[in-house]
Amino acid sequence: MALNIAKRIRAEVGDSFPVFFRLSGTDWAEFPEEDDTTGEWKQWGVTQSSQLVRRLKEQAGVDLVDVSSGGLWHQQKIPTGPSYQVHLAEYIKQRNPDVLISTVGLITDGQQAEDILQEGYADVVRAAREFLRNTDFVLDVRVDYLNVVILGVLTH
Ligand SMILES: Cc1cc2nc3c(=O)[nH]c(=O)nc-3n(C[C@H](O)[C@H](O)[C@H](O)COP(=O)(O)O)c2cc1C
Repeated sequence: MALNIAKRIRAEVGDSFPVFFRLSGTDWAEFPEEDDTTGEWKQWGVTQSSQLVRRLKEQAGVDLVDVSSGGLWHQQKIPTGPSYQVHLAEYIKQRNPDVLISTVGLITDGQQAEDILQEGYADVVRAAREFLRNTDFVLDVRVDYLNVVILGVLTH
């Protein structure tokens, strides 16, 4: 269904309009994604995510996939901490090097974001809640990390 929705969107917006797709990289369930003996899928995880990303690229022309994860199962235990979803993006990026991949989840400073990009774990870094904690987040990153001073400009 996800693939069909992406195809329909691509058909609607045309080839020149960027299409981003956000997916849950894993269900965070305790059992393996695939049963080794039967080949049965036991949960959603990075293996199926990687396969879906390939199809999204080839069949729907998706430009960028944002790798997140969500609360989909009441028993899941999500090991939250800095960059806790980056390894999901990394796994998918390694298997789909031609697809732009973004990562999100407790990325809260410029050095952390830069390291993720430099290591090649993802092509794009996103942040959300840090903007609620610190509305000057981007300005602080520029001053602290890039050593760029923002000067106020009067326009009238
Ligand atoms: C309470 C909560 C619920 C979330 N639910 C989802 C979800 O349903 N789907 C999803 O893709 N990401 C979900 N996320 C994860 C976000 O993708 C991401 O980790 C985060 O909220 C945004 O990055 P930040 O850590 O910079 O705020 C959820 C995060 C939180 C805190």
